[in-house]
Amino acid sequence: MSTSILFSPIKIGSVEIKNRFVRSATHDFMAEEDGSISERQLALYRQLAQGEVGLIISGHAYVLPSGKASPRQIAIYDDKFIPGLKELVKVVHQTESRLFLQLSHAGRQTKEKICGCQPLAPSAVYEPVYQVMPREITIEEIEQVIEAFIQAAKRAKEAGFDGLQLHCAHGYLLSSFLSPYTNRRQDEWGGSLENRAKVILEILRGIKKKINHDFPIIVKLNSSDYLPNGLEVEEAAKVAQMLEAEGLAAIEVSGGSAEAGKGSMWPGVRPEEEEGYFVPAAKFIKKIIKIPVIGLGGLRTFRVMERLVASGEIDLVSMSRPFIREPDLIIKFKRKEVSASQCISCNKCFNPRGIACAEIKKEKLI
Ligand SMILES: Cc1cc2nc3c(=O)[nH]c(=O)nc-3n(C[C@H](O)[C@H](O)[C@H](O)COP(=O)(O)O)c2cc1C
Ligand code: SF4
Repeated sequence: MSTSILFSPIKIGSVEIKNRFVRSATHDFMAEEDGSISERQLALYRQLAQGEVGLIISGHAYVLPSGKASPRQIAIYDDKFIPGLKELVKVVHQTESRLFLQLSHAGRQTKEKICGCQPLAPSAVYEPVYQVMPREITIEEIEQVIEAFIQAAKRAKEAGFDGLQLHCAHGYLLSSFLSPYTNRRQDEWGGSLENRAKVILEILRGIKKKINHDFPIIVKLNSSDYLPNGLEVEEAAKVAQMLEAEGLAAIEVSGGSAEAGKGSMWPGVRPEEEEGYFVPAAKFIKKIIKIPVIGLGGLRTFRVMERLVASGEIDLVSMSRPFIREPDLIIKFKRKEVSASQCISCNKCFNPRGIACAEIKKEKLI
């Protein structure tokens, strides 16, 4: 059995996480058509929890129909979704794993046929990947989005989730507010960094005010969107400071946007010294905040993760694709049966019929 620091507990707000491993938010394309939790999802989350992942973060759940990003995505815009979400919490709580719900609005990274309206964005800036000209969101609609996140948080609390993650990364609505490239507003919601961060701050303040203060809220934050005149790590770090001052419990540092052609899931196997492609940004941010920092991006090798946490560069390690390939990876690490994930970051698991590792299927055929 391992005595590594990776198997030591850590607190995120009031919640104890039994080890340093996080399943990064992963949309699985497995919800029912209407966004309710399905049996397939219960089975998937049961496997992850039985695999001893300390903290599981759900796939992004849309807080309003206009914020739906994908078919078969988890929905949380109505009370009718609470019973299914309770079931999801129940299967995870049969183990010591903890479960946070990721809340999201797609913004301009969706299509009318998915979200049922012209996609919304801080400013009308054409999105070439989705081939969408979004509509500039009105001030009244911004207030509705803030309220929708707060209502979604209440539902998540009622369903029994251990905490929440606000999706402020990858070009979706909240991250597009932060980016000067996509946010060209001249009013109080654009311009200065304080104004661009205001929608996220208002959501955080609103949830804190309306829900028991002990409910941890964390953020997945873009460190760069790789767009011309976009968001860069210096500004992201300042946003992290602003959020910490409002009671944020932890921060997961990511990056990317669809339009940049550089998203969050970088392809290919990297040498050990290049694992954790967003970890340099996480380290930069960690220097100026005190709350736990979650590092990620192609982390695959146990000794790399151990070094990063032992040296205090990050506090927790987060992975997505490795758990699609091996939901029991943490148990294998603990028993010292493997030294690295077998995931080769080929991205073939991103499957609209439901995530599954294509490499495993191939092995079975051989
Ligand atoms: C199938 C799939 C779905 C994803 N869905 C989400 C999501 O819902 N929310 C999110 O913040 N990131 C999402 N991601 C990005 C991952 O959380 C993670 O940031 C990225 O894959 C890098 O980590 P990795 O190298 O360990 O896979 C997804 C990734 C994959 C592969
Ligand atoms: S298909 Fe399998 S090996 Fe390829 S990225 Fe996905 S989980 Fe990893």
